[in-house]
Amino acid sequence: MHNIDIDLVEMTLDVMKYAINRITNTSPSLGDIKKEEELFALVGETITPEGIGGEKAFELFRDVLVKSTVPIDHPRHLAFVPASPTRAAVMFDLVTSASSIHGAYWMEGAGGIFCENQAMKWLVSLTGMPAGAFGVFTSGGTAANLSAMVTARENWRKKPDNCNKKGLIITSSGAHSSIKAMAKVIDADVHLVETDGAMTRIALQEQINSMDIDKRERLFAIVATGGTTNAGIIDDLQGIAAVCEKEELWFHVDAAYGGGALVADSVRHLFNGIEKADSITIDPHKWLFSPYDCGAILYKEPALALEAHSQEGSYLDIFKDEGASGFNPADYQIQLTRRLRGMPLWFSLATHGTEKYKWAVERGIELANKAGELIEGRSELSLVRPPSLSCVLFRREGWNAQQYKEWTYRNHRDGIALVTPTLWKAEGDYQTVLRFCFINPDTTEEDIRVILDTLGEP
Ligand SMILES: Cc1ncc(COP(=O)(O)O)c(C=O)c1O
Repeated sequence: MHNIDIDLVEMTLDVMKYAINRITNTSPSLGDIKKEEELFALVGETITPEGIGGEKAFELFRDVLVKSTVPIDHPRHLAFVPASPTRAAVMFDLVTSASSIHGAYWMEGAGGIFCENQAMKWLVSLTGMPAGAFGVFTSGGTAANLSAMVTARENWRKKPDNCNKKGLIITSSGAHSSIKAMAKVIDADVHLVETDGAMTRIALQEQINSMDIDKRERLFAIVATGGTTNAGIIDDLQGIAAVCEKEELWFHVDAAYGGGALVADSVRHLFNGIEKADSITIDPHKWLFSPYDCGAILYKEPALALEAHSQEGSYLDIFKDEGASGFNPADYQIQLTRRLRGMPLWFSLATHGTEKYKWAVERGIELANKAGELIEGRSELSLVRPPSLSCVLFRREGWNAQQYKEWTYRNHRDGIALVTPTLWKAEGDYQTVLRFCFINPDTTEEDIRVILDTLGEP
């Protein structure tokens, strides 16, 4: 199966043809998600002792299986946090795979890690973190948040008094689900600052002041959000930084979604204070147009991450030898063997230049504001709050949760759009509302109108 023969040549041509067709298709079908048994009925058993052959397997994928997935880069896919990788980045993802580079240690991955580090330097420069700050690419925001929490916790446990204590983190009720999930992984407790908007300095300080001595001694980190997933809200990063400094707490900013907007002049000031963070999560696979999967964790003092994450083993000693010296990404996050997942971002940045990134992110913000105007112009619709970053929350007057759900399914089934409902707390109660999140610069005002028109139906 490692032979180079005519079958391989044919498969290569099939794959390249598919890849070119896919990345030049600006409006792929929104996908028809089938049950597993339905898919099995269509394709049958694909893993057999003799193999079904590359031609057949590829045909099943191209003609059946991929049609049961949702293309996240569809211009009317506005659910969750969509994605819109550049074509340069997607093509270089193929190159990254073809190059078979081990991305853990400089000794094996030097040239590829160099590429990643160039992209990382740019990311760090967007944050304004001080000289010496640096980071690594991770599989996503969850892994980046976990890597930061482990670093923060290990740093806190350097004090012998903290060694046997269960850690505690404060974050806001608007923080992403991965914060609670990753706190479970490190067996830390989480306290929430309840807020409908941004977590403020005052609310955070009150929460800390209200803790009993045991809890206060277990508190080691504050996680602020630089763009909540639900509504694009940015916490008071300046104020929270000041509290962290005063209380000697680790300051982490989860900007997995919003971090791309650091490049946008129109909203950059909203992130003031982020430069004081001890660690920052930014996901290039969200708003920096990278293919999955590509997250990033940035540290003010990378040496602390190295102390927390560097793995020891006689088989690894050679990588740390003087002769092999260089930047070792494995030392700064939870993963050892790793794909050089920052390379597609590097290639796309090198190809297009950073100004195009600025334009493409500003376009997402512009689309959100435009959607806000269009919603306000329709009597059956109302904004829940002004658009924030590229998120828009709005209501269809008179609809209940079931009607929103049916509308989502109907629009998906009809191939019009994928827009999903979410919950928003208003007057003490959670209400079902609709949410747009714009990422794809190819989305048009007409796309927004097409979607809004479907809400006018009874
Ligand atoms: C603010 C925030 N943090 C973390 C995550 C988790 O990122 P990932 O899905 O890449 O693990 C998300 C995902 O949407 C997010 O919006």
